[in-house]
Amino acid sequence: MKKITIAIDGYSACGKSTTARAVAKRLGYVYGDSGAMYRTVTYYLLQQGVSLTDTAEVSRALGDVGITFKKDAQGNPLTYLNGRLVEEEIRSMQVSEHVSAVAAIPVVRRAMVKLQHQLGEHKGIVMDGRDIGTVVFPEAELKIFMTARPEIRAQRRLKELAAKGINASLEKVLANLEERDRKDTTRADSPLKKAADAIELDNSFLTFAEQVDKIVKLAEAKINA
Ligand code: CDP
Repeated sequence: MKKITIAIDGYSACGKSTTARAVAKRLGYVYGDSGAMYRTVTYYLLQQGVSLTDTAEVSRALGDVGITFKKDAQGNPLTYLNGRLVEEEIRSMQVSEHVSAVAAIPVVRRAMVKLQHQLGEHKGIVMDGRDIGTVVFPEAELKIFMTARPEIRAQRRLKELAAKGINASLEKVLANLEERDRKDTTRADSPLKKAADAIELDNSFLTFAEQVDKIVKLAEAKINA
């Protein structure tokens, strides 16, 4: 059967990753979490005390970052940094607070896009991020641009963090999402924007199952076309 590439872009915490993961499972496709890559680089730089504004330092440190993914028992990808599981660490508020600054650095983007191309070289992939439909896979057969109201996104993210035992206030989470959206949409290199041929999907009032169904149906239409 024909395999396609599915790009899901959108604002912070609007459920792209959970949706992309579920769509990939339904289609038997690989799920690529591009945000996890930027988060892993950020985690590494913070750990090493690298100044995020020193591009030469960042560029040098990038050479020491090895990002790999392994599947857990449910088939979900877990992120490894130089062979060490860092899935929990990269979702911390500290990483969330710095990731958009790191993701704005062109040398970082070039390295991550290379990794993303490798993951998607055989198609049969659902990748979520900010520039997947515009820069990483502009030829993707299906592009979704997901949105949801900021307060709804913040509440969802707060729940996710709480489930992991991470305490944060709604105000802090909302402020972080809005700040990342601002940085992600205004940066010079690969800003977050809807690709001309992307389908916009506001999931504020959709159930999870409904939005997954919608995307799977759109994908099947492309696969069978
Ligand atoms: O899960 P959430 O929507 O909060 O964020 P994420 O997908 O894990 O991405 C974290 C950050 O990485 C974003 O706020 C962007 O700054 C950056 N990112 C990016 O620049 N390009 C991508 N393709 C994916 C993420």
